[in-house]
Amino acid sequence: MNTKILKMDEENIDADAIREAGNILRNGGLVAFPTETVYGLGGDALNAESSGKIYAAKGRPSDNPLIVHIAGMEELSKIVRKIPEEAYLLAEHFWPGPLTMIFEKSDCVPLETTGGLETVAVRMPSNKIARALIHASGGYIAAPSANLSGRPSPTVAKYVIEDLDGRVDMIIDGGEVNIGLESTIIDLTGDKPMILRPGYITEEMLEETIGSVEIDQTIIEGNSKQAPKAPGMKYRHYAPKGNLTIIEGEADRVVDYINEQLRIYRKNGSKTGVIATDETATKYQADSVKSAGKRKDEDQIAHQLFRILREFDDESVEIIYAESFEGRGVGQAIMNRLLKAAGHQVIKL
Ligand code: TXA
Ligand code: MG
Repeated sequence: MNTKILKMDEENIDADAIREAGNILRNGGLVAFPTETVYGLGGDALNAESSGKIYAAKGRPSDNPLIVHIAGMEELSKIVRKIPEEAYLLAEHFWPGPLTMIFEKSDCVPLETTGGLETVAVRMPSNKIARALIHASGGYIAAPSANLSGRPSPTVAKYVIEDLDGRVDMIIDGGEVNIGLESTIIDLTGDKPMILRPGYITEEMLEETIGSVEIDQTIIEGNSKQAPKAPGMKYRHYAPKGNLTIIEGEADRVVDYINEQLRIYRKNGSKTGVIATDETATKYQADSVKSAGKRKDEDQIAHQLFRILREFDDESVEIIYAESFEGRGVGQAIMNRLLKAAGHQVIKL
């Protein structure tokens, strides 16, 4: 397949190009596009065949459901059976934006899109290119992150092209995304709202809006025997090609421990890397040291994490150590992604 690659400025959207992209989706094709969280790999959510193509292009297991992206509340009522009161409140506060809600699906959503589930995940993104594309496509775009299954989600088009060139009809390059981590997912189909995937919209922000929410414990504990409630969370994910280990403990001891390990690996000729912070970056003796930002600036760390993991791949780094981050606020999402990327290899000092 020949993939058309189009550059687009979010502040100056080319209406003809969006129409062309919308027509590809209407005709059952695939278009990768930017959102405020990460790039998405889009197909018509109401077309079973398109969803099949998404799974094939990503190499994704077909029991892992897709998120349906909409641009207005009217579209929501068409694809879900009922809209609980909390959903209106959450939509008012966080849509358009990085929050995905799970509802009971209506009949027009094919099981191919929901991975066989009777529920559907819905998000209204705020990125203007994404919104224009949703309108142009007829209103419903199913889109997982635009990476090959298992790889870090792309935050710039370069990595979408690396993974999907030749596998999709079009890639819209809208520059670097804002947030850099996928949306928070909240399930509204149970007795109590439950977070299935932490993200930029934190537990605290959700609770301020709708009162107490639960959090799927399996996504925090990691080595829990129970399967997580979002099917996608059970797969090894975001993994760099190198072997990644997280080191937890008091800052100076972490630096000393990592440097000790680095010495051993470098002596053996392995290429080494460290995910550090601005406070510590100069202290490491690795082949490649990358700071994710100031330790206090969680938004910045979230923004950089996936790019750093991809860059280590570009540099063929084999052994990677990462500092640990606080598991609260946005830090909860950062640690969730980092733990998955490390396959839960953590050393506590
Ligand atoms: O920010 C985002 O959410 C990005 C952008 C492109 O919008 N999309 C994204 O999609 O991260 P994906 O496919 O990489 O992750 C979707 C997650 C998976 O873990 C999947 O299992 C879960 O959502 N999910 C989707 N539908 C679900 C459902 N009905 N019940 C439970 N989990 C669901
Ligand atoms: Mg993904």
